[in-house]
Amino acid sequence: MSERGARARARANIALAKYWGKSDDASNLPAVPSVSITLDPLVTETTVVFDEALSADAFSLDGAPADAGELARVIAMLDEVRARAGLGARARVESVNHFPTAAGLASSASGFAALAAAASTAAGLHEPLEVLSARARRASASAARSIWGGFVELPAGEPGDDALSARPLAGPDHWDLRVVVAVTAVGRKAVGSRRGMNHTRYTSVYWDAWLRESRPLADGIIDAIMTRDLERLVPLVEQSFFAMHAVAMTASPSILYWQPASVAALHTLRQLRQDGLLVCPTMDAGPHVKALCRAADCAVVQQALAETEGVLRTLVASPGPGVEVEALP
Ligand code: PMV
Repeated sequence: MSERGARARARANIALAKYWGKSDDASNLPAVPSVSITLDPLVTETTVVFDEALSADAFSLDGAPADAGELARVIAMLDEVRARAGLGARARVESVNHFPTAAGLASSASGFAALAAAASTAAGLHEPLEVLSARARRASASAARSIWGGFVELPAGEPGDDALSARPLAGPDHWDLRVVVAVTAVGRKAVGSRRGMNHTRYTSVYWDAWLRESRPLADGIIDAIMTRDLERLVPLVEQSFFAMHAVAMTASPSILYWQPASVAALHTLRQLRQDGLLVCPTMDAGPHVKALCRAADCAVVQQALAETEGVLRTLVASPGPGVEVEALP
């Protein structure tokens, strides 16, 4: 056959225990454990077709040809799959983010998780989810977590742990939490996560403290998730994100992802908490603020964030399923 293809859908995830920093850059191994929730409805759909008539791999993102850096990361993953399957054909890759328009959210986790699954199935491989997760991790460590639905852990890795993958903790139905996203800016983030992490590792004097603190924080977060203890979870999630941003801010020169509207949103959530509502913020390598809360409190949290000065829009996500893949006829 000259053409064979597959389509996969994967969702973004939000880390409750943050991943920030690598123990090995070449094999993209995280220096700290992280814990996340895979989120509906933030879906990326990716189609991979291996076609013997193609002379080079092609990758389009939301209908437009991707830039050279993005293409190189996609080719690296396709090369791994080709080597494994003994396949020579080049591939056409089309990826579409079905995120609400201009959500301002990163799509590399859902994108590389969907690509790992679609490429594997298109190549005729029948690989377990652990193998797909490890492959996604080599492209973008947070993508390793999006292979599974619900609540997921990615352990820290040591150099040489080439098969390191994420592992599922509990399915999406385990706990009906909500994540309210407050979008505070448009456009791309100033410092990409890979560059930011490496710069932090080599220049922040608080790097060792971050490494020391991350393990017990992740353990506590896992425990609180498994026992559905929001009172315990909220301060730990907040601590993890403040620690991640603190170590990035103390890099030299400093990495500062926060905008005035981010700080305003943090204060809004702090006020809600003082008023007795169990809610906490978390932030990734960008200015948006994400609030974790109970489903029943979601409307109040969303309204308070929407009314916060500088917040452009809000959206609500909830625990969603893992990667779904089908071979194309
Ligand atoms: O896997 P990357 O390179 O997209 O890094 C993700 C890092 C954070 O989003 C900031 C934290 C996390 O654990 O998702």
